[in-house]
Amino acid sequence: MSLIRACFLLSTDSLLCCRMYAPLFCVCLAAVSFVAADVVDDCKINSERVSASEQAVLNRLAPLKHKRFETTFKNGTESYTYTFAVCGTVLNGTKSTNEGLVQNKTQNGEITVIGRINDTRVINGTDWILLIYKSGEKYDKHCVKEPRKAMVMISCNKKSLAEGFTIVSEERDRMDECFYLFEMDSSVACPPDESHLSVGSILLIVFAVLIGLYIIGGFLYQRFVVGAKGMEQFPNITFWKELGNLVADGCDFVCRSQPRSSETAYRGVGDDQLGEEPEERDDHLLPM
Ligand SMILES: *[C@@H]1O[C@H](CO)[C@@H](O)[C@H](O)[C@H]1NC(C)=O
Ligand SMILES: *[C@@H]1O[C@H](CO)[C@@H](O)[C@H](O)[C@H]1NC(C)=O
Ligand SMILES: *[C@@H]1O[C@H](CO)[C@@H](O)[C@H](O)[C@H]1NC(C)=O
Repeated sequence: MSLIRACFLLSTDSLLCCRMYAPLFCVCLAAVSFVAADVVDDCKINSERVSASEQAVLNRLAPLKHKRFETTFKNGTESYTYTFAVCGTVLNGTKSTNEGLVQNKTQNGEITVIGRINDTRVINGTDWILLIYKSGEKYDKHCVKEPRKAMVMISCNKKSLAEGFTIVSEERDRMDECFYLFEMDSSVACPPDESHLSVGSILLIVFAVLIGLYIIGGFLYQRFVVGAKGMEQFPNITFWKELGNLVADGCDFVCRSQPRSSETAYRGVGDDQLGEEPEERDDHLLPM
């Protein structure tokens, strides 16, 4: 009987709690989804119709967005520095022309745009992402004077967000389809972790959150609506007390092998302390 009453109390209480907290909950949910939807839209995929999957791969680069990487390449007496910005521009201000990867000739500071972020392609496999910036400056004599193109191979490395940006090769001694190939390691290229939350742990977290909401909501309700004080502020305190007693009785009934002797049950407090204290002290003296 009391259980039914308690359940009824619980349900009306939680209903009220829902009404009180629904707006807050909505705000939290909106905030969470806002944070989750990090879109990389500075890189423009130059295509009639951008496929959702290509955009999804691009969005995986979000943690690297606007990060810059540099590598220096020496070829005999010539040396070049390559600067790569992930879906961002290398040069800033008015000089910027959507360049995502530029080559800087060390001797004379001559800057050549290798690829632009407004003409991006992206391809992925199980543990790599290939980011391609096209529409770079045109070759002077090589490669039928086509625009330069940068390809950055990002391989999975669970341990680091980004490291080891280097140039692999410059392929320009061919008729066309020339490219600059770079590589780097990043955790963004890794397949979704196997150790991600299982259904069980998600349920557990949801359960824990609900309990938290129940306690906090109930507490506030008891305090400010009912006007309870002290322990009474705990939601449905009588129900939980009764439940606790029931569970204790149940445990007692199920787990105890011998009936509780009345002697121990009514033993005085003083006896207890006298009987146990010396034993506790002895424990420290025991050899290892
Ligand atoms: C612009 O680029 C220069 C280097 O080229 C850098 O020192 C400066 O901080 C940049 N300014 C902004 C606003 O990013
Ligand atoms: C990319 O930007 C550059 C410079 O801002 C521009 O000249 C070029 O036409 C753009 N390319 C595309 C494909 O939009
Ligand atoms: C490429 O990335 C997408 C988006 O993250 C993913 O759904 C797909 O499984 C990946 N492809 C491979 C072969 O892993």
